[in-house]
Amino acid sequence: MPVSVGQGPQPDFDHPIELMMDCHRRIEKFLDVLDRVAVKNELDSERRRALRTALNYFQSAGPRHNRDEEGDLFPALSAFGGAAARLVEKMDQLAAEHRLAEQMHKRLNQLGRKWLKSRRISAADMTEFRILIERLMNFYAAHIATEENDVFPMAAAVLAPETLRQIGQNMRARRIENPGRSGSRCARRRKKNL
Ligand SMILES: [Fe+2]
Ligand SMILES: [Fe+2]
Repeated sequence: MPVSVGQGPQPDFDHPIELMMDCHRRIEKFLDVLDRVAVKNELDSERRRALRTALNYFQSAGPRHNRDEEGDLFPALSAFGGAAARLVEKMDQLAAEHRLAEQMHKRLNQLGRKWLKSRRISAADMTEFRILIERLMNFYAAHIATEENDVFPMAAAVLAPETLRQIGQNMRARRIENPGRSGSRCARRRKKNL
């Protein structure tokens, strides 16, 4: 089960909205990877590698994406007012949803790391693992739809080019601060692109 996600060209930091959408595609792909890993209790080497890659992604890149939205995009849109004002409540809700997702990821990570360590997952842990994946898939389907149908188009329409540039720079700085696991393929690629 080769994990090929995230190896294509990424949008650059001058296009922060596209970059955030790219993050969404990675979230979806890595959830799908986890779904495909959780088919047998015993890990072979390929599924083991896939599981580790997906868990690492959700541990490092997931929280960074939330910070991109909560720390930059949502405040910029809230400050804009005007037509964007109707989205303030929705953005508050999206930020609250991030906290719920963090709890689910925390438990998923605990189960996944335990699985990596022992190579075999118990039936009870597998059931919980699969329930969490399904919940996260349903959660992200709705969460991402709100962001991509309501918030991102509004941001692209109303935010000034210099505001978007600043958001892109902040995203870039966040990735310099926390480039991911050193030596990982993602970290090496990111370093090259910064
Ligand atoms: Fe979000
Ligand atoms: Fe998002």
